[in-house]
Amino acid sequence: MISEKIQSALNEQINKEFYSAYLYLAMSAYCNVIGLPGFAHWMRMQYEEESLHVTRMYDYILNQGGEVHLKAIEEPPKEHGTPLEVFEQTLAHEQFVTQSINELMDLAVQERDYATQSLLQWYVTEQVEEESNVNDILAPLRMVGDDKGGLMMIDQQLAQRAAPAPLTPGQ
Ligand code: FEO
Repeated sequence: MISEKIQSALNEQINKEFYSAYLYLAMSAYCNVIGLPGFAHWMRMQYEEESLHVTRMYDYILNQGGEVHLKAIEEPPKEHGTPLEVFEQTLAHEQFVTQSINELMDLAVQERDYATQSLLQWYVTEQVEEESNVNDILAPLRMVGDDKGGLMMIDQQLAQRAAPAPLTPGQ
């Protein structure tokens, strides 16, 4: 069982995770258009990852006997600038999501909702990984600057990103 307050906050977070999926899908399309298929692939995998973040929270609300309220998803921007700017925007967005998860955790602690704290701990750990993955891409991107050969090499590396593992029952 979850309180109305927690249910409402989790539904807000589902909307943010949906927006994340939408944003990265838009970035994937953009990277395709600017001729970086590896970047586009990485963003497509990130879109899939975000969809799993949605589903995990959605399942949790239902498993707790709560109600899911799906709200309108904001339209993401169409233009994302240089490849470096694409990943700078990605890091800024992930930092925003981290802040949002931390605020949710604060609420779960205040409400002494231990089950939701346990769910959110997974997201806290996930956000550390998400920010770290993006920082690992930003470092070489800053190094290569406008060098086309360097960008192509990074593009080939990003093309290797594997698809996220699907959720298994009980996760
Ligand atoms: Fe679901 Fe990338 O935060």
